Amino acid sequence: MIYLDNAATSYPKPQSVIKAVADCLQDYCANPGRSGHKLAIEAARKVFEARETVAQFFNVTDSRNVIFTSNATMAINCACAAILEDSDHVVVSSMEHNAVMRPLRYLEKEGKISLSFIESGSNGKITGDVTQLLQPNTRLVVINHASNVNGVVQDIAHITAKIKAYSPSVTVLIDASQSAGVLPIDIQKIGCDFLAFTGHKALYGPQGIGGLIINTDRPLKPFVMGGTGSKSESQYQPEFLPDKYESGTVNLPGIVGLKAGIEYVWPQMEKIRTEEMKHIKRVIECLSGIKGITVYWSNSFEHQIGVVSFSHESISCSEIGQRLNDEYSICVRIGLHCAPLTHETIGSYPDGTVRISVGAFTEDSDIDTFCRAIEHITEV
Ligand SMILES: Cc1ncc(COP(=O)(O)O)c(C=O)c1O
Repeated sequence: MIYLDNAATSYPKPQSVIKAVADCLQDYCANPGRSGHKLAIEAARKVFEARETVAQFFNVTDSRNVIFTSNATMAINCACAAILEDSDHVVVSSMEHNAVMRPLRYLEKEGKISLSFIESGSNGKITGDVTQLLQPNTRLVVINHASNVNGVVQDIAHITAKIKAYSPSVTVLIDASQSAGVLPIDIQKIGCDFLAFTGHKALYGPQGIGGLIINTDRPLKPFVMGGTGSKSESQYQPEFLPDKYESGTVNLPGIVGLKAGIEYVWPQMEKIRTEEMKHIKRVIECLSGIKGITVYWSNSFEHQIGVVSFSHESISCSEIGQRLNDEYSICVRIGLHCAPLTHETIGSYPDGTVRISVGAFTEDSDIDTFCRAIEHITEV
């Protein structure tokens, strides 16, 4: 089996991640922060250590600003709920995933917010001047760091700096779902207020864990409220971080798995990126040489991650995906990838694309087989 669907979730997981999750379930899976016995204290220590690791990874000064969520979707919803008020204006890039679009479209439909879109070229790279879209009531700008459809990378530090220089009161949320673990992310250098990430993609953790980094002192509203193990005497949600945003029992096996995933990827990020880019270049070259295929990518390796899409003029994406699966045991994702807006921007809506996404475990021979398979499938 050849797995080229790492943008959906990375597979396989490193042995160290599997072991960390298994050890947790086996040895100390008590409820962290809820009881004073040995196992609960050990569990709480593991959560603390993981929070510190995430903080160091993203260069967050105070690890209390790392909020564990179940995934990036929850982190994005959390940031929107924390900051948005009625009559606010929100600016988004035109390369967003539905994790961003659906909460915002809901609020827009309810008449609570208005939306504007930053212009992008057909390769998805932002071309518009965000500051031209800012209004006196603009509260939030959301930008997808790296696309899950064509792999284009945005200059988030540059764009954030421009926004902040123009209007420091505007908050910036970066969706780093595809970039965390692939590109170095230093939240101090980027200067954004929120960064949402997920644990199960390029951080090689298990599914069901992600996080929100809070990098602002502004007053924030709570999102999901409930038991935190702290301030149990109070019927009101604690105001301090991370408890304000971490109600209910946390995903301890997921949290330790995320820590192990970061420890796996961090020391070899550059090496993995070099390999992934080598693979993706070969995929682009092979696809570009086949008559009838359109390749969707950033058109610049500098602004690209290991994700590309393609379509064929006469063979449907579903047929290609099915044949790759049935005849070659190659796993890819076809369709709209939960990102209809992105497909509209790059010109592949409504048919969608076949998406290839490589990972740390992709080998040269996987790409050889994929290239041969696609050449064969598209032969007339
Ligand atoms: C760009 C982008 N944003 C958000 C998400 C949502 O991530 P999750 O499913 O972990 O919530 C994804 C997942 O594919 C994504 O690619």
